[in-house]
This record gives sequence, C-alpha cells and structure tokens, in this order.
Amino acid sequence: MRDIDRVTILGTGTMGPGMGAVLARAGMQVTLYDVDAAALERAKGTAEMASGVLDRLETPTVGGGSLAFEGDLAAALKGADIVVEAIPERLELKQQVLAEVEGLVDDDTVIASNTSGIPITKMAAELANPERVVGWHWSNPPQLIPMNEIIPGERTAPEVTRAVEDLTRRIGYEPVTLRKEVPGFVENRVLYAIMRECLALVDEGVIDAEGLDLCVKWGIGYKLAVVPPISLLDMAGLDIYTSVASYLNADLSNEAGVSETAVRLKEAGKLGIKAGSGFFDYTPESAQQLQQQRAGQLVGVRKALS
Ligand SMILES: NC(=O)c1ccc[n+]([C@@H]2O[C@H](COP(=O)([O-])OP(=O)(O)OC[C@H]3O[C@@H](n4cnc5c(N)ncnc54)[C@H](O)[C@@H]3O)[C@@H](O)[C@H]2O)c1
Repeated sequence: MRDIDRVTILGTGTMGPGMGAVLARAGMQVTLYDVDAAALERAKGTAEMASGVLDRLETPTVGGGSLAFEGDLAAALKGADIVVEAIPERLELKQQVLAEVEGLVDDDTVIASNTSGIPITKMAAELANPERVVGWHWSNPPQLIPMNEIIPGERTAPEVTRAVEDLTRRIGYEPVTLRKEVPGFVENRVLYAIMRECLALVDEGVIDAEGLDLCVKWGIGYKLAVVPPISLLDMAGLDIYTSVASYLNADLSNEAGVSETAVRLKEAGKLGIKAGSGFFDYTPESAQQLQQQRAGQLVGVRKALS
C-alpha cells in the first residue's frame, strides 16, 4: 500500500470543501475538483469557513498540508494517493465518474466514495480493479462531526479498508468500519428510523413540529451524545427495555412509504432552509444566524465531549 499524502476530492458542494479543509489541516496535500466552475469558486469561501471552525475547535495544524482548486480532471488526479468522490448521490453518475477516474490514476491509487448509502459493490462492479474501492462516509458538517463510517464492498481489499481507517485516525476522527454492507449503512439507518417515527407522530397529530423537536432535543438527543444507545440499554436495565419493547415495538411506525406531511411540504416547494420555509420559516438573515449559532453550539458540545 502506498502512503497517503495526496488527496483529490471530486465535487465541491455541501461536503467536499469541509472534507478538504479537515484533510489539509492534518497535513495532506488536497486538490478539490468540480465540473461546475462556479461551484469550485464558491468552494474557496466554504473551505475557508470550515477552516475557521477548525480554528475554533483548536484543531492542530500538521505541517505540509495544502488546499488547491483545479478545474481540469486529469490535472486534479495527477499523483493522487486517494481520490474521494463527493458528487451527487446517483448510482449511474458515480459509476461513470469512477470509471473515468480509474483510467486517469495510478494502479495503486485508492478510490473512496462519500456516498450516503449506495452499495459500494454496485458502484465498483464495472471497474477493472474494484479491490481499491471503499466507502468513506463523512457526516455533515464534515468539519465538525468527528466520525467516519468505512464501508468495504464485497471485493474491497482489506489493506484498502485499513488505509482509510488509518487516514481517518490521522485526521483525529473515529473510524467506524461496517462488517457487512447494508443500504444506508449504519448512521443513516438509525437516523431514518428516528425520522420515520418523528414524522409519524406529527402526521397522526400526536404532537406538533415544535413540540416534537423540543422533546427529542432535551430528551434523547442531548442524552444520546453522552450515553449512546447500547450503553443506554445497560444504563436503563435490560429487564425494563424488554418489558417496554414487548408492547411498544408493535405500535411503532413501520410505514414503508414516506410521511404525508413531508411529501405535501415538498410538493408545495417548501424544501426547508434553502427555500425559505419547510416545517418552519426562514429569512436569509435568520438562516445565516441559525447556521452560525448551530456551528458555535456544535463546537461547544464537541469540546465538552472530547
Ligand atoms: N449533504 C449531506 O448532508 C451529506 C452527508 C454525507 C454524505 N453525503 C454524500 O456526499 C455526496 C455529495 O453530497 P453533497 O451534499 O456535497 O452534494 P452537492 O449536490 O451539494 O454537491 C455535489 C457537487 O458535485 C459536483 N459534480 C456533479 N457532477 C460532477 C462530476 N462528474 N465531477 C465532479 N463534480 C461533480 C456538482 O457540481 C456539485 O458541486 C453524495 O454522495 C451524498 O450522498 C452528503
């Protein structure tokens, strides 16, 4: 396995710039590439903001790191030890881009995908060397959430998985490697199970959106960051859990479709912060203020937990 020092990130939307800032801070020479010149230009500001968050987290700067922006794919990939794709979540697009990348990089360059849940085995199926492809799933915002899921596909070489685990440790993040590939991996499966129940309670009129958020924030939300689910089971007692679960599990939502409220809002163009309204309303100023407030709170919580 070659040492990993040069990283190329494809896609500079929500995720790419923050990932680049974290890797550069840890001493990596990072090149960011996007097909869209405007997105690449915007990424300069986003990466700088992410770097400001790293300052507030007091993240140490490892020497030798750098961040470059490149609009030519072949130039961006030249000499890369690892390529990380963070392009839109569409299987055919990812397959097509990975095939193109494979034709431009060295034989032993690792190819990682930040996919939120597309099976790595499928993504790598048509490549000449699927052994070098691995899932490396960052959580949003990538400069703040210090955990990456690592997902080996059926044909991923164990040394490739190990290399990405080592890289994750080098940036000071916790690597969490799945033993088996499942859609949505672990983080999003848990999140979507929570979202399904929350939306079912709102859909059924048990509680309104504000009340739901308040209950989860100060109930399980705050607590889970300190006592995560399996540890919480031990804390609560398995006798209590099995007794409650024996009647409650059958009553929880197992809806296979999507929440009617979420679909109605989406169809009305109420997509959330980016559209000015979703469940709640936002102005450009309040959205910006909220983003800053949340970043500050996440910095505080992370410092308190580490
Ligand atoms: N947004 C999240 O919260 C989040 C969290 C974890 C993982 N992810 C995953 O990360 C990936 C990227 O998500 P995002 O939210 O940053 O997407 P995004 O839509 O914000 O950005 C994607 C970027 O990729 C660019 N792009 C499109 N085709 C390209 C190509 N062929 N080559 C290079 N660039 C290309 C687009 O111009 C855009 O700038 C997805 O697989 C997503 O599922 C997203």
